[in-house]
Amino acid sequence: MDFDMKSFQKDIKTRQEYVEACLQNCVSLLDAYPPLIHEAMHYALFNGGKRLRPIMVCEAALLGGGSREDAIPAACAIEMIHSYSLVHDDLPCMDDDDFRRGKPTCHKVYGEANAVLTGDALLTAAFELLSQNAQASEVDLGRTIRVISEIARAAGSRGMIGGQVIDLESEGKNIDFATLKTLHSLKTGELFQASLRSGAILGGMDEPGLQAITDYARNFGLAFQISDDILDVQGDEALIGKPVGSDEKNHKTTYPSLLGLAKSREMLKESVASCIQSLEPFGERAAFLRELACFTMYRES
Ligand code: IPE
Ligand code: IPE
Ligand code: MG
Ligand code: MG
Ligand code: MG
Repeated sequence: MDFDMKSFQKDIKTRQEYVEACLQNCVSLLDAYPPLIHEAMHYALFNGGKRLRPIMVCEAALLGGGSREDAIPAACAIEMIHSYSLVHDDLPCMDDDDFRRGKPTCHKVYGEANAVLTGDALLTAAFELLSQNAQASEVDLGRTIRVISEIARAAGSRGMIGGQVIDLESEGKNIDFATLKTLHSLKTGELFQASLRSGAILGGMDEPGLQAITDYARNFGLAFQISDDILDVQGDEALIGKPVGSDEKNHKTTYPSLLGLAKSREMLKESVASCIQSLEPFGERAAFLRELACFTMYRES
């Protein structure tokens, strides 16, 4: 598992710039009425996220044989859903955190009620974008509808929301390893899975390819949340842009709290190895996704 952080940073930067420009194009909210909610949506969306999920949508579309352009509405919609989930996750009734992506959280700037509404509005706007695109795009309508349904399921009560519910229900309790793994795969894994599968479906990937990319996504989600839990213990606040020690403050069960840091790192490494194995059918064409999996072991933000 060779990994060169410098070369990865170069590779991801070009992709981040592309996604950033597309997001700006897709989501021109600032002059809409009423100004307050649109300003808050803008604040929550354009605040320095890594943009991993939309990058994955585009990458999987290319792997499937399609174009990045055709995947952009789904990519932007998923980033809107992800950003909404962070606004709600930071609320006082959830993780009660004051910083996100290096800036005061949405509720700190706009108040709690407006932060709830900002999340609601971003989620709704994501599906507006997806459905507008279904009418306008060159992509086969059947594929687009399948993608809308995959994204809706992943973001909902059997996916990310289900994970957040288990996360909150488990605060201050001793949960076993199987529950923790389910929690991680729902709250974080599902949206990564929807990102990669959406891109792949839009690009026209065949079923064996789709299975391989789904395996990668499942392992990536786990690796990513384990590394998030590790950074919550020993990350640098200035780099991660959110508070260190939030999980301990909220009495969450995490990989480090249940298994210790050394074992968590070992499991992170195993998940990354499984990611790389899942990409075998794609050969060199999956080089960036391979790097992205390795990044979870070395990331500082
Ligand atoms: C943070 O996700 C929330 C988790 C699922 C762990 P990211 O680390 O991708 O957050 P941004 O988008 O870069 O801020
Ligand atoms: C949140 O997990 C995952 C979401 C669905 C938002 P965390 O609560 O660990 O995310 P961070 O650490 O606040 O970004
Ligand atoms: Mg949380
Ligand atoms: Mg949180
Ligand atoms: Mg966290």
